[in-house]
Amino acid sequence: MRATAYAHTNIALVKYWGKRDDGGRGLNLPAVGSLSLTLDRFGTETTVELSETERHDHLTLDGVERTGPELERVSAFLDLVRGQARRELHARVTSRNDVPTAAGLASSASAFCALALAATRAFGLTLDGCNLSILARQGSGSAARSVYGGFVLMHRGQAEHGEDCFAEPLPAALDVRLVVVRCGSGPKMVGSTSGMGHAQRTSPYFPAWVATHARDLDDARAALAAADLPKLGEVMEHSTFKMHATTFAARPPFFYPTSTTMAALAAVRELRAGAVGAWATMDAGPHVKVLCAPGDATRVAEAMAAVPGVFGVDVAAPGPGARVLEAPA
Ligand code: DP6
Repeated sequence: MRATAYAHTNIALVKYWGKRDDGGRGLNLPAVGSLSLTLDRFGTETTVELSETERHDHLTLDGVERTGPELERVSAFLDLVRGQARRELHARVTSRNDVPTAAGLASSASAFCALALAATRAFGLTLDGCNLSILARQGSGSAARSVYGGFVLMHRGQAEHGEDCFAEPLPAALDVRLVVVRCGSGPKMVGSTSGMGHAQRTSPYFPAWVATHARDLDDARAALAAADLPKLGEVMEHSTFKMHATTFAARPPFFYPTSTTMAALAAVRELRAGAVGAWATMDAGPHVKVLCAPGDATRVAEAMAAVPGVFGVDVAAPGPGARVLEAPA
């Protein structure tokens, strides 16, 4: 009744931002599909140990016992697994994030994916990738994508209960690097769940974001199929800046870039002006991730490390999907 799993984080190239109506069922259905790259760096290792005697769940994250909203979100997720297993056991969840300390890169993607895998195995369930991604999605939309390695497509789906809203791997003959540029520290000002909700409710740009999104996904898939990095990079930037535009136009507005983020984005443009293929993306935080060819990664990393205010650069390659490290026989 104890299992351990590891999941790597993933970064969306075509972003997920906003939810479609699930009639209050808590299914966490995305308003748009997305396309991501699972990284070989950064991830979460999670152990779930079931107990016959505990009366509630416990969560220890990075050595600190957590209560309040963090524990509630994990407990609500465990309820889904208890429902599938038809067993009422409570759990002791121990999780360790494999990210540079205080970098603000800890991600719900690797966290809920590792939890989904460890919890199902602890309860004696073995889900296939599709069903594991459907489960992980209900913890966090981006977590569905960390089930698989490399490039991953997340379907928006149409079904009321989300059974067609799952992730699948997108094999591609394109090798890339993602240079992760740390542009700030500390917790996010506005988390992704509340940020996308507020943008969806108040930003006049949100309907345009949704209306133009399917084309970005098509273009990104075509770029991947053609192993066309410049085209993939261009679509990624377009998706990124549209997503962030919804936040600038929200009421009240909010935004994730800092002055260091803007300087890093300028450095990416300069690289391109100097004929180095480099394209930027950002998520619900200040950090910049730069997509480039493997052969350009060192040059890109050096240029980004020289940007004033940047306090760390890591080069990530495509990484594997989630895996079980220990499970009951
Ligand atoms: C900007 O997956 O964290 O990183 O489903 O509410 O948990 P919830 O949101 P989350 O949102 C990720 C948003 C993003 C873009 C992306 O990863 O696609």
